[in-house]
Amino acid sequence: MSDFNAAKSGQFKIGGDLTVNRLGFGAMRITGFGIWGEPEDHDEAVRTLKRLPGLGIDFIDTADSYGPDVSERLIKEALHPYDDKMVIATKAGLTRTGPNVWVPVGRPEYLIQQAHKSLRNLGVEQIDLWQLHRIDPKVPAAEQFDAVKSLLDAKIIRHAGLSEVSVADIEAASKRFKVATVQNRYNLVDRTSEDVLDYCAKHNIGFIPWFPLAAGDLAKEGSPLDTIAKKHGAAPSQIALAWVLKRSPVMLPIPGTGKVKHLEENTAAVNITLSDEEFSALDAEGKKAFAAAA
Ligand SMILES: NC(=O)c1ccc[n+]([C@@H]2O[C@H](COP(=O)([O-])OP(=O)(O)OC[C@H]3O[C@@H](n4cnc5c(N)ncnc54)[C@H](OP(=O)(O)O)[C@@H]3O)[C@@H](O)[C@H]2O)c1
Repeated sequence: MSDFNAAKSGQFKIGGDLTVNRLGFGAMRITGFGIWGEPEDHDEAVRTLKRLPGLGIDFIDTADSYGPDVSERLIKEALHPYDDKMVIATKAGLTRTGPNVWVPVGRPEYLIQQAHKSLRNLGVEQIDLWQLHRIDPKVPAAEQFDAVKSLLDAKIIRHAGLSEVSVADIEAASKRFKVATVQNRYNLVDRTSEDVLDYCAKHNIGFIPWFPLAAGDLAKEGSPLDTIAKKHGAAPSQIALAWVLKRSPVMLPIPGTGKVKHLEENTAAVNITLSDEEFSALDAEGKKAFAAAA
């Protein structure tokens, strides 16, 4: 038994009805190099997934394009039949033309096909949360949003979200369907989506920050982050995660790994309580680093 559990990160109701512990898991790293093909260590990837329920992690983020298909299939291999609490979010809208290559494809018939394929790969009758991975600039946005609405209407998906979007995009999509979540890159030192996060908090939309562990140069020996990490006996990445969790009650971070040891270390961050002073000091340092990098 571990003395840490994701339940300690607090809870959020996705779409108002699917309760998850706020600290989730990103399943992009259980694939091969370039997020392409099978993982180098299949058994360790499966062990990592099987460890999730014991750590209280009941929210997994994946995508059709991770592998492609590999991540969704491994989730099924490791965790199917799923326990009632497990919420699996997937995505479509990026296709792959090779390792490390991501090409937006938002044609409605493609999005609908991919949602049907995800049902099969994951072994579910309905997808809990399906996210439009990117709004494809080559296709009218309204056509993509209508495809999402058709998936909701057909009950292929229960809730829908967006990824890498602006406030204007969320408002445009909201005219066609209820936006349950937004997944944008966000961490202590990447604050590009600060306005999107505030919008999500105001409208009770779950905000799923990807790359949440990053601390960049702030983790340098002797830095304020390093001092705070040492005081808590924690790794800088754990402090970065604790900071993200404290930033907003709608924040649903999904740190990703293919290793049990890293999964456990990341989950242990829920036991770190940053004081308001520590939170503010890190906030200021992160903003400074972000501005300097801009
Ligand atoms: N919507 C989007 O466009 C988008 C884009 C990218 C990612 N995502 C989602 O967001 C999730 C998280 O993003 P991410 O994977 O880019 O960033 P992340 O979770 O912040 O970092 C993952 C990286 O850190 C390493 N790592 C994880 N825990 C560690 C630990 N305790 N100690 C040392 N290294 C550790 C992982 O390697 P190891 O495997 O070696 O641990 C991996 O290289 C993904 O899994 C995916 O679900 C979404």
